[in-house]
Amino acid sequence: MRVPGKVNLALRVGARREDGYHELATIFQAVSLYDEVEASLGEGVTCEMLGTQAHLVQVGDNNLAVRAACLLAERFNVTDGVHLVIDKRIPVAGGMAGGSADAAAALLACARLWGVDASFEDLVSLGATLGADVPFALMGGCALGQGRGEVLTPVLSRGTYSWVLAFAHQGLSTPAVFRTLDDMQERVPESMRLASHPPMPADVMRALTTGDPTILAPTLVNDLHAPALALAPSLATTIRAGQEAGALAALLSGSGPTIAFLVSDEYAATDLAVNLSSQGVAREVRVVSGPVSGATVIEEK
Ligand code: C5P
Repeated sequence: MRVPGKVNLALRVGARREDGYHELATIFQAVSLYDEVEASLGEGVTCEMLGTQAHLVQVGDNNLAVRAACLLAERFNVTDGVHLVIDKRIPVAGGMAGGSADAAAALLACARLWGVDASFEDLVSLGATLGADVPFALMGGCALGQGRGEVLTPVLSRGTYSWVLAFAHQGLSTPAVFRTLDDMQERVPESMRLASHPPMPADVMRALTTGDPTILAPTLVNDLHAPALALAPSLATTIRAGQEAGALAALLSGSGPTIAFLVSDEYAATDLAVNLSSQGVAREVRVVSGPVSGATVIEEK
């Protein structure tokens, strides 16, 4: 199973809800950076992580893919076990929903392995209980996310956009970024605080219908930019380097710290990636494009 990471082309945040979550209006775009998840029959639910950041991920009962497999087994009375092998390429705690991607892939892979009679919609609603970004990892493409980000509506998107991703040395905790946003809110005058319902990113949706990155670039917006930069100030250097090297826009991906630079085409992407790599302003630099499909089977067992 191959499952993509995402960037949020718009991430508008509303006030904190009673359940601690924030009401969102976000535009997700799945991009061509994939984790691979392989499921085989096993004893209980076990997980093994591969890749350069494997040591940063717990593989026990708290792992989101393990929880996904357990939840599916419980809901559909499955007695078989599974061994999951996850090849991690989406940065860990990077704001690209890598953990959610693995959970989405685990749901699909286990449903196939165990022959569970679950519809795609069943998996999407199970996924939503595991994390706000899991439904989008199943769906892929380009979508408007509302509620906690899990209420999805497909968005019309023309063409393919080229991005350069700059991965940071340290991850950022999503709850910590939202908490910092809340703290910052308390210090601004009431008239400047977040509305209970975030604004609809209509200009991003309009721009996506043109297929023109120069029209999309000025519409990109992320309300988590200020709190993420407050927690990781060195991101300003990465952003400036990309802007000075000619990126059309620099965007924090989700709650960060990954920075996504929008460029005009794949050639500009290669140039920018070489430039950023040589300046050493990121742990790793990758060229990707989007939108791409959600979790997909790549191999028959
Ligand atoms: O749903 P998920 O586990 O991915 O969310 C991680 C954390 O991010 C939540 O516990 C919450 O602190 C924060 N969050 C939020 N509002 C959202 C999504 C996430 O406050 N809409």
